[in-house]
Amino acid sequence: MNPSDFFPYSEIAKDVREILLTPEQIQRRVAELGQQISTDYVAQDLLVVGVLKGVLMFMADLLRQITIPVAVDFIAVSSYSPEARDKGFVRLVKDLEIPITGRNVLFIEDVVDTGLTLNYLLRNLRARNPASLEVCVMFDKPVRRLVELPLRYKGFDIPDQFVVGYGLDYREKYRNLPFVGLLKAEAF
Ligand code: IMP
Ligand code: MG
Repeated sequence: MNPSDFFPYSEIAKDVREILLTPEQIQRRVAELGQQISTDYVAQDLLVVGVLKGVLMFMADLLRQITIPVAVDFIAVSSYSPEARDKGFVRLVKDLEIPITGRNVLFIEDVVDTGLTLNYLLRNLRARNPASLEVCVMFDKPVRRLVELPLRYKGFDIPDQFVVGYGLDYREKYRNLPFVGLLKAEAF
């Protein structure tokens, strides 16, 4: 499948060398996750928290597949920097607006790689004493995991390669691709 087939007039699609997940594959899986979450939390209070900015497409699609009432909030963390990440540092750029104490929180992440970012964020949220705290991640790269993390819901396992699209960026570019793909070497 040719990246430009999905985005015929797009300049950025030309930087993609391979599509890993098509929009259809992604939507099918997101629908399954939404059904699962709706079943698991039926008749319960639920606050869905997303991590900006990478989660924006996934969050928007997932929320429309959740059929029970939910509250929605976001946090934002500093952008991908390998050096900072290796030390487990994450800068909270925007905190929650809704207090989570005593609430069931479903934490939504775009991609988990080493797990250090998510580990940091979960510790931060746990300290605020939610009634429950579960994780839903769209993409998992289990190969490079450094800390064990409880991932209750998962979209896809993906290989240990840098992916872009469907919200994920390389230097703030490619978030608006409707598929998930690998970049050509020239694009880095
Ligand atoms: P971790 O702390 O190593 O798990 O890294 C997770 C964070 O790194 C994610 O929230 C992303 O922002 C970023 N990241 C990891 N892998 C990718 C990728 O393949 N594409 C884009 N961003 C990524
Ligand atoms: Mg992220």
